[in-house]
Amino acid sequence: MSNIINIGLLGLGTVGGGVAAVLAQNGAAINARAEGTVRIKAALVRDLAKSRAGAVPLTTAPADILTDDSVAIVVELMGGVEPARAYVLEALRRKKSVVTANKDLLALHAEEIFRVAAENGQDVYFEGAVAGGIPIIAALRTSLTADDIRSVTGIINGTTNYILTAMTEQGSDFAAVLREAQELGYAESDPTADVEGLDAARKLAILATLAFHSPVSISDVYTEGITGVTAADISYARELGCVIKLLATARKTDEGVEVHVHPTLLPERHPLATVRDVFNAVYVVGNALGESMFYGRGAGALPTASAVLSDVIRAARARMSGTQGRTGLDIDRRLPIKPGRDYRSSYYIRLKVRDEPRVFASLALFFAEADISFASIIQKPRRNGNAEIVLVTHPCRESQMEQALASVRAYSKLEKIYNMIRVWNE
Ligand SMILES: NC(=O)c1ccc[n+]([C@@H]2O[C@H](COP(=O)([O-])OP(=O)(O)OC[C@H]3O[C@@H](n4cnc5c(N)ncnc54)[C@H](OP(=O)(O)O)[C@@H]3O)[C@@H](O)[C@H]2O)c1
Repeated sequence: MSNIINIGLLGLGTVGGGVAAVLAQNGAAINARAEGTVRIKAALVRDLAKSRAGAVPLTTAPADILTDDSVAIVVELMGGVEPARAYVLEALRRKKSVVTANKDLLALHAEEIFRVAAENGQDVYFEGAVAGGIPIIAALRTSLTADDIRSVTGIINGTTNYILTAMTEQGSDFAAVLREAQELGYAESDPTADVEGLDAARKLAILATLAFHSPVSISDVYTEGITGVTAADISYARELGCVIKLLATARKTDEGVEVHVHPTLLPERHPLATVRDVFNAVYVVGNALGESMFYGRGAGALPTASAVLSDVIRAARARMSGTQGRTGLDIDRRLPIKPGRDYRSSYYIRLKVRDEPRVFASLALFFAEADISFASIIQKPRRNGNAEIVLVTHPCRESQMEQALASVRAYSKLEKIYNMIRVWNE
């Protein structure tokens, strides 16, 4: 096979190293499918002295890749927004195809990057950017385009799913499990982006844009992390037949698009409730498709490299057949984004009140005044004259819940509101 397909890697870290390893391992099959010999011409790194597996030629000069006319495909695996954005735009202007696994970059700059790609007749592929090895991007960009997608719900952050699974199965508290996850390499030393839901929000913005063919940006996503979830909440959830998951949900309603990331009480019978540890899953509902779930490893060197190299094959084939520049973001409408206060949800509320006559009646009245009724109530025996109460409401708007909670907070018999967590509604 004489056709050489030179690729340039921007970054040779976890995923870049995985790309080199999978190319070495599956090279014959990849070359057959790409209809040429895929060769890593060079990899951009910061530190030439770092020890690395394999024998990829290294450079610290981006121009060695970006201005090399023999490099047809630039694979951006360096992460962060700048200088990744500048390098990707330059590669497109120099008529190269781009493959990236960078959700931070796409969540902020997808429209600009795809505009420049179109202006230059090039494509941008990003299967590795959301849910690692799970082929959800290709599904939304191609396989599901005849459907009217109503909702996309994902467990798309492995770190938080690992933490919540361990809290559920070991009964441990958040801080202890986070330390364990850091020791195992499942959580970063600064875990903020994961535990505060920001990583999931970036991925959700990308999924929602593709699913609804309408732009959704990171600032549209209502985001709440898992740091407030306690072992006690998980135990009450179990009593209610639920698990607690960090769900990223995008829904198309008559009033606009809802996009939110927050801990959610999910019935144990829901397919997403079975997704444990660092695994990811994306649950898609379409008007013709019905329900469908995509499940697998959402991160890691080899699963993500598998997704990245499938994009390299697509890019190579498009270039070979002269069909590049035809796969945009497919945005064909601008749906309104629904304000968070208008979202409807059921709520789990755990609070401590004085255990005295008429206290529960007063609580019930505060909720009734906001037109909220209860689906379940759990009351634990008194301790020090106080009672712990868990209320689960029927669906209501967030603004109604704010009204009820304002009354509860002002109530003289309230000792403490421990937590409020949303409950899954179909
Ligand atoms: N890790 C995963 O499982 C995973 C899964 C899905 C998607 N992703 C995404 O894939 C991308 C890469 O992640 P990763 O985990 O592979 O990151 P990583 O291990 O930190 O590797 C980053 C690589 O980029 C190089 N680099 C970073 N900034 C640079 C700069 N300014 N100039 C030159 N080189 C630079 C680094 O050089 P040195 O080696 O010299 O430091 C390193 O080789 C990110 O966008 C990430 O979100 C990662």
